[in-house]
Amino acid sequence: MLNWDDYGKEEVNTSAAVNANTPAVETPQVAKEQPAPALAAAAPIKENTTKTEEGSRAQLAREAIKNLDDAAGVEELDEMAGSRVQVDDKMMINCKADLNQLVPFKYDWAWQKYLDGSANHWMPQEINMTNDIVLWKSEDGLTEDERTIVKRNLGFFSTADSLVANNLVLALYRLITNPECRQYILRQSLEEAIHTHAYQYCIESLGMDEGEIFNMYREIPCVSRKAAWGLKYTQEISDPEFKTGTVETDKQLLKNLIAFYCVLEGIFFYCGFTQILSMGRRNKMTGTAEQFQYILRDESMHVNFGIDVINQIKIENPHLWDEEMKAEAAQMILEGTELEIMYARDTMPRGVLGMNAAMMEEYLKFIANRRLTQIGLQEEFKGVGNPFPWMSEIIDLRKEKNFFETRVTEYQVGGALNWE
Ligand SMILES: [Fe+2]
Ligand SMILES: [Fe+2]
Repeated sequence: MLNWDDYGKEEVNTSAAVNANTPAVETPQVAKEQPAPALAAAAPIKENTTKTEEGSRAQLAREAIKNLDDAAGVEELDEMAGSRVQVDDKMMINCKADLNQLVPFKYDWAWQKYLDGSANHWMPQEINMTNDIVLWKSEDGLTEDERTIVKRNLGFFSTADSLVANNLVLALYRLITNPECRQYILRQSLEEAIHTHAYQYCIESLGMDEGEIFNMYREIPCVSRKAAWGLKYTQEISDPEFKTGTVETDKQLLKNLIAFYCVLEGIFFYCGFTQILSMGRRNKMTGTAEQFQYILRDESMHVNFGIDVINQIKIENPHLWDEEMKAEAAQMILEGTELEIMYARDTMPRGVLGMNAAMMEEYLKFIANRRLTQIGLQEEFKGVGNPFPWMSEIIDLRKEKNFFETRVTEYQVGGALNWE
């Protein structure tokens, strides 16, 4: 560890080491003859300039700094940038206040989610993949249907999280005009990178054909349809010229939030999560399943954050949430549900892992009802239940005894995690 008492000694030793002919035993003598820089600095300073010679580039740099207009950048922020931000100045979209002033917080829930997400930090290499490698490489470890499920889901997720990350950094970050939400978006972006890393880590550990897996989002219809559905909502608002501020453009941003938080992260992930976690419950591919369990925990928070943002935009801009927008939002959630049901049928042509496509269809309708009501819309599917109550237990962190490892709950700092 760095110690200020060692500062001078370290400098002397370094200079001694430069002289390759100096025997190591003479080093203490050198130290006596040359005062440490820290002591030398105590001598009176005669001039406020250095005696070093400098080249023309340093002179040019000094001239440039002399002429620096230190107000120019700040003025460009916007007309309110010159003043201290008050809580009431802050808004989720189209805010004119200085976005570099994180406090005072207006949306405490956003900051809390940033803290909770940070308290849950994890890395894919921490999870032991040894049993998965043995099982994957053995002749009769998994059925063909189980192998298809592993490959399809790694294929879908390995690129889906990149699509989510791209949407965050290339589109959403610029348009959400609140610093505490931006802080969470930065945290979420890191988590999406870790998720992509986790899938890559599984693919590499299992020795899969990387080209085949990473191209499924273009080559396998049930995967590519989901990717294409999400991508069109990024394309709408990722143009650098795109600006919010009109009813039409504000609605486009709102649609993007619904597409990504309610559908991509809120529905498209659920068939795959359920399949892989069901595999883990049967003591198969437990390393991969544990990676997915960490990811599911992060994703649940992403969805909750996105829904809070959507509802806050509705509160601050009630004119955007008209009948047309409500119908469009419901349509989007139901389109996503339809695509995910198709994905379930394609990945489960027959019963596997104690589940089948019909059970998954009911589960997805159950999730769709939840997404609809979370943004204030009516449920669509009557009489559906949750055929996989154990999924809710994982998401709610009321973890089954000895389910995979124990790290998930231990990762919380001071019991800070709150899922509601
Ligand atoms: Fe993710
Ligand atoms: Fe996510």
